[in-house]
Amino acid sequence: MKKFLLHNVVIFLSIFAVVFSSFGFNPKEEKPEKVYLFAYSTLKNNGKNGLHFAWSTDQKNWFSIGPEHSFLKSDYGSWGPMGKSMSEAFLFKDETGIFHCLWSVKDDVFAHASSKDLVSWSRQDYIQALKNVSKNQEAKSTVESLKVSRKSGQYFVHFTADKIRYSSTTKDFKNYTPSVTDTEQAPHLTEITLQGKTEKGTITEVNWSLVEMLVKRMESSKFRDKQNDTSPKSDSLLFAGLKPVTAQISINVGQSKKISNMLTGVFFEDINYAADGGLYGELIQNRDFEYAVSDKKGRDEKWNAAMAWNGDFKIQKSNPIHANNPNYAVVTKGSCNNSGFDGIALKANEKYDFSVFAKGAKFTVKLKSASGQTLAEAALKPASSWKKISAVLTSSKTITDAHLEISTDGETSVDMVSLFPQKTFKNRKNGLRSDLAELIAAMHPKFVRFPGGCVAHGDGIANIYRWKNTIGPLESRTPMRNIWGYHQSMGLGYFEYFQFCEDLGAAAVPVLAAGVPCQNSSDGGAGQQFGIPMDQMDEYVQDVLDLIEYANGSTNTVWGKKRAEAGHPKPFNLKYIGIGNEDLISDVFEERYRLIVNAVQKKHPEIIVIGTVGPFFEGTDYNEGWAIADNLKLPIVDEHYYESPGWFINNQNFYDSYDRSKSKVYLGEYASRGNKFYNALSEALYLTGIERNGDIVTMASYAPLLAREKHVQWNPDLIYFNGSEVKPTVNYFVQQLYGQNPGDVYLESAIQLSDTNAEVSKRFGVAVVKDNASGDLIVKLVNMLPKAIIPSINFSTSNAVENVNYTVFTGSPENTTARPVTQKITIDAALSRELPPYSFTVIRIKTK
Ligand code: AHR
Repeated sequence: MKKFLLHNVVIFLSIFAVVFSSFGFNPKEEKPEKVYLFAYSTLKNNGKNGLHFAWSTDQKNWFSIGPEHSFLKSDYGSWGPMGKSMSEAFLFKDETGIFHCLWSVKDDVFAHASSKDLVSWSRQDYIQALKNVSKNQEAKSTVESLKVSRKSGQYFVHFTADKIRYSSTTKDFKNYTPSVTDTEQAPHLTEITLQGKTEKGTITEVNWSLVEMLVKRMESSKFRDKQNDTSPKSDSLLFAGLKPVTAQISINVGQSKKISNMLTGVFFEDINYAADGGLYGELIQNRDFEYAVSDKKGRDEKWNAAMAWNGDFKIQKSNPIHANNPNYAVVTKGSCNNSGFDGIALKANEKYDFSVFAKGAKFTVKLKSASGQTLAEAALKPASSWKKISAVLTSSKTITDAHLEISTDGETSVDMVSLFPQKTFKNRKNGLRSDLAELIAAMHPKFVRFPGGCVAHGDGIANIYRWKNTIGPLESRTPMRNIWGYHQSMGLGYFEYFQFCEDLGAAAVPVLAAGVPCQNSSDGGAGQQFGIPMDQMDEYVQDVLDLIEYANGSTNTVWGKKRAEAGHPKPFNLKYIGIGNEDLISDVFEERYRLIVNAVQKKHPEIIVIGTVGPFFEGTDYNEGWAIADNLKLPIVDEHYYESPGWFINNQNFYDSYDRSKSKVYLGEYASRGNKFYNALSEALYLTGIERNGDIVTMASYAPLLAREKHVQWNPDLIYFNGSEVKPTVNYFVQQLYGQNPGDVYLESAIQLSDTNAEVSKRFGVAVVKDNASGDLIVKLVNMLPKAIIPSINFSTSNAVENVNYTVFTGSPENTTARPVTQKITIDAALSRELPPYSFTVIRIKTK
């Protein structure tokens, strides 16, 4: 242990010494009062590296900070090669001492952010510089060579587009005059030599203390990265000499606090084929012939109306079954086959509901194996106009790669060709795949968030998820491109989501866009700077209010009636609504967000609004999101973070210092970037801190939930699957253990370890809760050390029953297949049984 600490201190001191000696600066010498700060950006990594600094006392010898540490990154546009770019950063200080940085973003837009200290930055504004400039050419112009000058109390932003020089003026960096051809003299960027390379940027005179602070910030961020860079390998070095650790744990039953009784739930997003081809039980892919090349933004010509189909048919559009579903297939003297999602998985002797909208000649439907064997068949006779007809098919075989065939001797038009297992979750029609749904149910989720994630706010305004498009008869729903690059049939729509929540006994947590699409959008403008036009926002706000009526309104209301028509006259008892998903907090966002939140709060004070505070656990969006939440007095905000296991180990106290008088937290998305046991355990450890802070953290959901093999856009996920198998990860079992063992009261405990080193103690997590409904006491113990811990747990056991449920979940850190094992043992044995290295133990004690 000592060896480890010494090692870390040496590293830290050497970084410090290298940095300062390379600056040619002797810390003992007198410090300069003023120095020059050079601000610049580079084209490396497609210009995504952001704003860097170097300093000098003489403007000849420059010392870079980092080197190339990023103090500000552009958030404009998508994650693709064109987005998030900062080129030609221009930094200056105004007369009040505020720094302003403006930059071009590979678009007809320039960006602005300001800062008092160059470390914390204001929200970013993106200015459409060429909005008023009429252009002849087709290609989009790009703002280049951006510079700023000041004259007569206003700032001139000079730039070039299509080789023409323009300028626009502003006094406040919020309101800009229309761009005109530039007649003013623009300043130049300065060229300096930095580590042998020429860089272009701006020079500002600053106090030395500011540079010291920048260096400290860079150092601490490097130190934090180093500290969070843990792994089983570094553990084995770090803890090589560690002696067996004993832990005295005193549970103080008298010292308790109320915590949330709905701490763990699920985050469902249609990502990785989680809906169509996933939880939604439909076995036919592209049943409505509405797949379109535009689903994948033209990147795949085969991804069209005939996708997953082959045979003797043509796609037609005249006289469709519904305007929202314009395509159908006409099969002529032959057959057409659907291959499902990588083959149709069938079970022997199970019944499948086949249905189709058809017209024309009689036809036969068959389920067939790849070798052509018929496994089930039915003959159907359609009418001469569109009508839904159906048949029940019983498979003679268990098979994973069947296909469905429709054959005719004449001409038959078909649409909404559907095949559902009769055994869906809770046997619902248009239901959910039972094995996946059962696995989710086994997590005992207290809530289900849906439909995302980024799917909720979508890729561009046109792709914002609109709940009204997802209800009503299936053939009338409006399918849509999925932000993750595939197709959403909307067969799993808002009605089905609400129904699923009810079937699970979980609260529904729908998340709706805040009137802006995803900030990483690449479609129809770059992200949220181009939110829904304000003159269309009333309609959008009304949609949000209508959702509440759809869920809770009486059957006499417009939307309550639609719910009843769908088969659910009773209200769904919606309590929560999320507005926004980890949005970039911009002016465009805030204006729309406030409008929606205010409208919901005014009309439905009974609804708990969950706000959004950005995609990270810190930074501008987090700070600004929280400031708006404070101002709006939001009951809950949605935090997101995907971090390394080391981050989760080092941040168990993240919520300890949260102000209890402010909004509560829904940790809506988190994961430790891996599906190994080491990852799962770091999540289990972190969750002991979440339970301890269950008075401020009301809900938490791992993300994402589902991923179909071969169609994974995001790793890691909680449950993988294919057509016939479900594959819960080790991370899943951590969630399951927490979900199955919740409490509503947290009991404080004092822990004394035989080794008091912080590296040891932060790898041991304890959370003790009481479940008032059952009276059970639940002790969770996470040992993330490569050594066993010998506990001695003290509390009054007078009213405890003799035998407890003792669950141990353990494995090597690299393991991906470990499973928890539960046995009944005596309470005395449970309170002192050795906790294996890398293990998560749950002791469930019944009381008399
Ligand atoms: O969980 C996957 C994605 O991560 C979500 O869609 C988004 O909200 C986050 O960035």
